[in-house]
Amino acid sequence: MPELERHDVDVLIIGAGGSGLRAAIDASATGARTAVVCKSLLGKAHTVMAEGGVAAALGNVWPEDNWEVHFRDTMRGGKLLNNWRMAQLHAQEAPERVLELEEWGALFDRTPDGRILQRDFGGHRYARLAHVGDRTGLELLRTVQQRSVSLGVEVFMECKIIRLLHGPSGEVNGAVGLWRESGRFVVFSAKAVVLASGGIGKTWKFTSNSWESTGDGHALALWAGADLIDMEFVQFHPTGMVWPPSARGILVTEGVRGDGGVLRNSEGRRFMFDYIPDFYAKETADSEAEADQWYGNKRDFRRPPELLPRDEVARSINAEVKAGRGSPHGGVFLDIASRRSAEDIKRRLPSMYHQFKELADVDITSEPMEVGPTCHYVMGGVRVDGDTTASTVAGLYACGEVAGGMHGANRLGGNSLSDLLVFGQRAGRYAAEHALGIKGTTIVDEAQVDAVCNEALGCFSAEGENPYALHQDLQETMQALVGIIRTESELIQAKERLEGFAERAAAVSVEGHRQFNPGWHLALDLQSMLAVANCTTGSAIERKESRGGHTRDDYRESDPDHFGKVNMVSRLHDGVVEVSESPLPTMPEELQALFEEGH
Ligand code: FUM
Repeated sequence: MPELERHDVDVLIIGAGGSGLRAAIDASATGARTAVVCKSLLGKAHTVMAEGGVAAALGNVWPEDNWEVHFRDTMRGGKLLNNWRMAQLHAQEAPERVLELEEWGALFDRTPDGRILQRDFGGHRYARLAHVGDRTGLELLRTVQQRSVSLGVEVFMECKIIRLLHGPSGEVNGAVGLWRESGRFVVFSAKAVVLASGGIGKTWKFTSNSWESTGDGHALALWAGADLIDMEFVQFHPTGMVWPPSARGILVTEGVRGDGGVLRNSEGRRFMFDYIPDFYAKETADSEAEADQWYGNKRDFRRPPELLPRDEVARSINAEVKAGRGSPHGGVFLDIASRRSAEDIKRRLPSMYHQFKELADVDITSEPMEVGPTCHYVMGGVRVDGDTTASTVAGLYACGEVAGGMHGANRLGGNSLSDLLVFGQRAGRYAAEHALGIKGTTIVDEAQVDAVCNEALGCFSAEGENPYALHQDLQETMQALVGIIRTESELIQAKERLEGFAERAAAVSVEGHRQFNPGWHLALDLQSMLAVANCTTGSAIERKESRGGHTRDDYRESDPDHFGKVNMVSRLHDGVVEVSESPLPTMPEELQALFEEGH
């Protein structure tokens, strides 16, 4: 092996989306030598797909709002499976994190008296989402990017991390990566590693996620011996584009519904009134006349059913399409044109206007959009300590989408941007404190480095198929058998297919050389996606109930007595994913009281 490029830092952050860059700001401010490494280019991350806003109980539009209401909304949205401590810290600290963004230059939309404007979103009792039109994630990313670069954080772009490295006591002490352009390996030694690598969407066929979201951080954690929790909970955002095929899956922000957009079936009916679950019946309007009072000054807290949490809306759309009442291309209609003026639509939803005009030749100021569910987010991820974001392996931290627990069984829209700010900040701080407490130089184990590099090169001499065919089969399997509605027999079928895919993956071969070889990159990404697919499928088999982002057609009810009290934990045992149950921590009484009548 030729001499390898090496870098030594205190804190290595894997991922340059909102959580990674927010972590970098605090790690650096704490005095740690900090580097961020990302597979893509700086500024390009799935964070931009949280378009409609960042949830924080600022109380600018509704002074009645406060962290307790936000906490309760979040826990209810997550079907009470959330890590309560994370949900509490998130609700308490989100306002401060948003105001700090503003100080750093983020330009939010304003109320008439000059404060940050907040919009409605599903499952939030009050208009709570601070936003920048429908480009909030982009503005957030731009702001933390500028801040971290100005603090001197080192950024390594277009570098895929292949494996984490272990020190003598099993602690994580570095990583081996691959420069995508040159195909050369690089070794990072680090006293702490923060995973901030985002989600897993590319494991499914129709997704809002771009090519980077291959579950790398989830897999790195698993291979390093960490626990993953809640991997059965995958969020299908109710509204992705369904037409044309090249645009299928691209996100249509929930901000459309937040701003008054309604869903209709092929008969022109606002079908969401037919799908109000008992759990939300008290607070959901059951007639069009009442629902429309929600907007503007006449609100009486009975939300339109289009603003139910995402799991409910996605399932309802799915049911309408299945019942033969879908739109021509297999979705339903989302209508904002008849609800808002063209001027309002272009001002509040500029990206949606352009997206539909340019990609589908649809003018959303005069025509409805065709939309359907798209794989958007994974609630499951690395099991972390709620306060510090430390994983179950020393030296390894996780924040943002790759961390599990915060959102329980289903995430409310807008809570991802606030999550990544709150826990990005905490991850950066606690990882830096951990790193600065370790004396001496970090020495990585060269045998581990050699083994990682040799294994990564294996596909150049293998004689199997190319990775694209396998990726397609994996995506089709996950879409068809581990999608929105699941059954035991289909999940078992998926599990069997995954076993076959593992054998095929071991023999995948790539052509050409190491310089910018997308086939090779995909072959490596496939290892992550297969690991993740096994966790999701295994956990989905074991959770024999329906809850949030996990709907079992053969167990349609939620089971609060058993499954409402446990997380599914995925762990590697002899290289194979094993799933077991672990008890959910009990919520303290003062927080439980927030769910009682009168609150
Ligand atoms: O619909 C959206 O704008 C997405 C937001 C989110 O995922 O939080």
